[in-house]
Amino acid sequence: MTTTTLAIANQKGGVAKTTTVASLGAALAELGHRVLLVDLDPQACLTFSLGIDPEDLELSVHHVLTKGLDASEIVIATEDGVDLLPATIELARAEADLLTRTGREHVIKGALEDLEESGVHYDWVLLDCPPSLGVLTVAALTAAQGVLIPLQCETLSHRGVGQLLDTVHDVRKFTNRKLKVWGVLPTLFDGRTNHSRTVLETISETYDLAVIEPPIPKTIKFAEAPAAGRSILSTNRSNKGAMAYREVAANLVKLRSGK
Ligand SMILES: Nc1ncnc2c1ncn2[C@@H]1O[C@H](COP(=O)(O)OP(=O)(O)O)[C@@H](O)[C@H]1O
Ligand SMILES: [Mg+2]
Repeated sequence: MTTTTLAIANQKGGVAKTTTVASLGAALAELGHRVLLVDLDPQACLTFSLGIDPEDLELSVHHVLTKGLDASEIVIATEDGVDLLPATIELARAEADLLTRTGREHVIKGALEDLEESGVHYDWVLLDCPPSLGVLTVAALTAAQGVLIPLQCETLSHRGVGQLLDTVHDVRKFTNRKLKVWGVLPTLFDGRTNHSRTVLETISETYDLAVIEPPIPKTIKFAEAPAAGRSILSTNRSNKGAMAYREVAANLVKLRSGK
């Protein structure tokens, strides 16, 4: 299987990017796929949620992106069956360090290619983008074949989506012609309210974007999982949120065969 690299991006915080990366990663691993998750947020929430304390790490994705270390030396196997390229707060400096570098948009792409060349193969690489449209997000979009945009269905304030799509457009023009928007993934979805449905329809019509099904329901279990250091798929196997992410993963597997 060739590698499918997806950037999970939305410059708004709290839309479930990190939760989506951790949960889809675990769901794809359950299906027998080899998965690498990359934490690109200096807050290191993904790293923490997979049971790794960033403070215990000497080396992290920051060293790969700015010091040229091999990702293979830093990748950690997690209990959720996925591999992780972890982040620490040091990554906050990467934006500044990379700003003056030639080819900065390509650092993630290059690191992933090196990994593949060293014989480490993944079926999926999921990039957990930070809540900004800075260098790291642009580098993630440059490394990806597809973008998945988690959208919180609670609020109508989706002006940010237009900006994100502008960035995708620029990336397509300058650094990654083949980048495709796979669609928006509705998160924190409350199906009992018409409001959630209306928001969803408005977004897909306004921006002409596919909606990845099913929407991820809002459930308190997601808030509890990170503290356990495992994704909700292991802590609450039959929770409706876990089931929804499994369905989304199965749909992504189908989608990729059509790309
Ligand atoms: N489906 C959900 N139901 C309830 N809470 C959720 C859900 N998905 C995510 N959350 C919670 O929302 C908060 C933000 O999620 P997170 O994945 O960190 O977003 P982001 O990475 O976009 O900032 C976290 O506290 C997370 O536990
Ligand atoms: Mg996050």
